[in-house]
Amino acid sequence: MHTTVGIIGGGPSGLLLARLLHNAGVDSVVLESRDRAYVERRQRAGILEQATVDALRAVGAGARLDAEGLVHDGVELRFDGRAHRVDFPSLTGGRRVWVYAQTEVVKDLVALQVADGGPLLFGAEVSAVEGADTDRPVIRYTHEGREQTLTCDYVVGCDGFHGVTRAAVPEGVRRTYERTYPYSWLGILAEAPPAYDELIYAHSERGFALASMRSPSVSRLYLQVPNGTDPADWSDERIWDELDARLALASDPQWRLKRGPVTQKSVLPMRSSVTEPMRWGRVFLAGDAAHIVPPTGAKGLNLAAADVIVLARALAHRSSTGSAELLDAYSDTCLRRVWRAEHFSYFMTTTLHTDPGQSAFDTRLQLSQLERIASSPHASAELAENYVGLPLGRH
Ligand code: APR
Ligand code: PHB
Repeated sequence: MHTTVGIIGGGPSGLLLARLLHNAGVDSVVLESRDRAYVERRQRAGILEQATVDALRAVGAGARLDAEGLVHDGVELRFDGRAHRVDFPSLTGGRRVWVYAQTEVVKDLVALQVADGGPLLFGAEVSAVEGADTDRPVIRYTHEGREQTLTCDYVVGCDGFHGVTRAAVPEGVRRTYERTYPYSWLGILAEAPPAYDELIYAHSERGFALASMRSPSVSRLYLQVPNGTDPADWSDERIWDELDARLALASDPQWRLKRGPVTQKSVLPMRSSVTEPMRWGRVFLAGDAAHIVPPTGAKGLNLAAADVIVLARALAHRSSTGSAELLDAYSDTCLRRVWRAEHFSYFMTTTLHTDPGQSAFDTRLQLSQLERIASSPHASAELAENYVGLPLGRH
């Protein structure tokens, strides 16, 4: 089999790329190792920036997002028992974000691709990419028990953090920059209305907490927990009590979350990682295959979308004009945005979490920084601009 663009991975990056290429008249094949049900069930992030929403609408995946997505004009920061709201539109020239689960984005994109797109093979596990520096790179994969090859004009690794495509960039060229954090998130989904109509990011002596949502009747909540935590050690009651303690307000001691049945519980590691360059010969990396951010700034999905928007434009430009200029610029163009998001995610994470080795001095610095955001329009605008997403091409 031959295709113009071989896409490894059917997560948000691979699926959105396939749809953007379909719009531009460029053919592609998507190879995904898992089955469709697994890919559609996976619980991940839930905040979409304007550019991500625009891209989803442009590929025809905007209908359910527009009907069911929740538009958010701000977030609340809680620290020192106080609440401070950061208003996005007034600080960013009218920009805002959408709450719409990544798992729903994936369902919408899969449905479109299955209806009228190029091949999307589930259960297709890629073992290697060969010939990155030739004109005809080859993907080796196993599908329905048979070893197969797909020859391509270009290969895009959208295969996430544990993917195989990164290995196509020679070791002497590839460089990975990493940071791990000494804490994880315990995340739950609960059939309970959100306590508040916006997200709440809370700094507390007991550790970080985040109150998010999926719909007017479903809450998504997170607690900072030690690395290695077993979710089974956290009963539902213990989770709700801890969330209430970390989100407590001095001005309203009666304030509590609304409780309901917990339908899902899992522990997520926190990590920052960037692999450079994001292109070698005819092989490109996009999304989690190239970079990971801790979830505190809600940047992971949006960075993945930004990569494939830039890449689809470059591949379409190549196909319509023959010029490789934009493809040649891909890695540098993406990495500028990636490093900005890495910094923002690191900043949000380290400002809001309690490091187990943290001193009282460190805590006072965090509180001073949060106070600065609450009292200075400049400091809150810096947070707001990064949160809603810097416009593509300006970092
Ligand atoms: N062969 C085929 N498919 C593979 C292989 C392989 N060898 N290895 C991994 N995959 C598939 C995975 O099964 C997964 O569906 O690649 C896909 C990668 O998807 P994601 O991990 O969701 O990565 P991406 O599409 O870049 O999306 C980034 O996911 O983790 C979040 O915060 C992150 O929201 C961001 C988004
Ligand atoms: C989520 O709703 O899953 C979510 C929201 C904001 C974050 C991280 C996760 O920063």
